[in-house]
Amino acid sequence: MLLEPLKAAGQKIALVPTMGALHKGHVSLIDMAKEQADQVVCSIFVNPTQFTDPKDLEKYPRPLEHDIKMLEEAGCDVVFMPSVKEMYPTKENWHIDLGSAEFLLEGEFRKGHYQGVTQIVKKLFDAVDPDLAFFGQKDFQQVLMIENMVAYFKLPVKIITCPIIRENDGLAMSSRNIHLSAQDRVNALVLSRALAYVVDHFKTLPVAQLLEKAKEMIRKTPGVELDYFTIANGKTLLPEQDKDAGNLVALVAAKVGETRLIDNMILS
Ligand code: PAJ
Repeated sequence: MLLEPLKAAGQKIALVPTMGALHKGHVSLIDMAKEQADQVVCSIFVNPTQFTDPKDLEKYPRPLEHDIKMLEEAGCDVVFMPSVKEMYPTKENWHIDLGSAEFLLEGEFRKGHYQGVTQIVKKLFDAVDPDLAFFGQKDFQQVLMIENMVAYFKLPVKIITCPIIRENDGLAMSSRNIHLSAQDRVNALVLSRALAYVVDHFKTLPVAQLLEKAKEMIRKTPGVELDYFTIANGKTLLPEQDKDAGNLVALVAAKVGETRLIDNMILS
């Protein structure tokens, strides 16, 4: 409502969807959005339908005052913080065809996750009607699924993917990092190190050897339980052995202590 007259006057609206507990990764999306749009809207909504584990939903951090302060400092124009009732007034069935990549990697470990993600992102798009929407490469598969949802409904919104923001030592920033103990925090570094190993040796070693070494690095780290480490096609997410196939990405997920982390690096 607030945005309708601005949009009618030709202003470009950007949306940055988040679940709050904001960090510099989120702020980088706001920064990119500010460069490309006239009005930047950031949504904060911890979306129940994308959580497969109710305990995970319950313990999801919600530092509201800190978030508002960060958004003010980032120069965000509008904060959209709907309630669960507003977004889900009635129980609704949602199931759309997101393609076969839905069921791989994160989809295998978090059943139904991407149905929940695309359900809420569609609702946020309906509410805000953005011209552009910004997402992080950190959640590589999520961007793919959202692009597939946008194509499915033929939505007039452009999806923009922003690079992963890391701590100085390489750990990808994540709202979940606050759950890591001091020891977990050290152990978690193996994920970005294993990915960096693959990037550094991509030209010289065959895929099988890259995977073997990366998985060994992770398995050797105490307190880290590997879910997957793969070198995959960036569209289908199917494993790829041929280094010359192009559009390759290395993706990893592991439980570090009690916290499940994901990370990735683009190879070609
Ligand atoms: P959330 O985890 O809060 O992330 C919001 C956005 O920030 C996502 O696009 C995510 O990829 C991006 N992001 C997170 N960490 C990042 C980092 N280190 N560098 C760059 N970008 C990063 O992803 C979600 O929320 C939800 O699934 C959502 C899309 C909001 C739907 O509920």
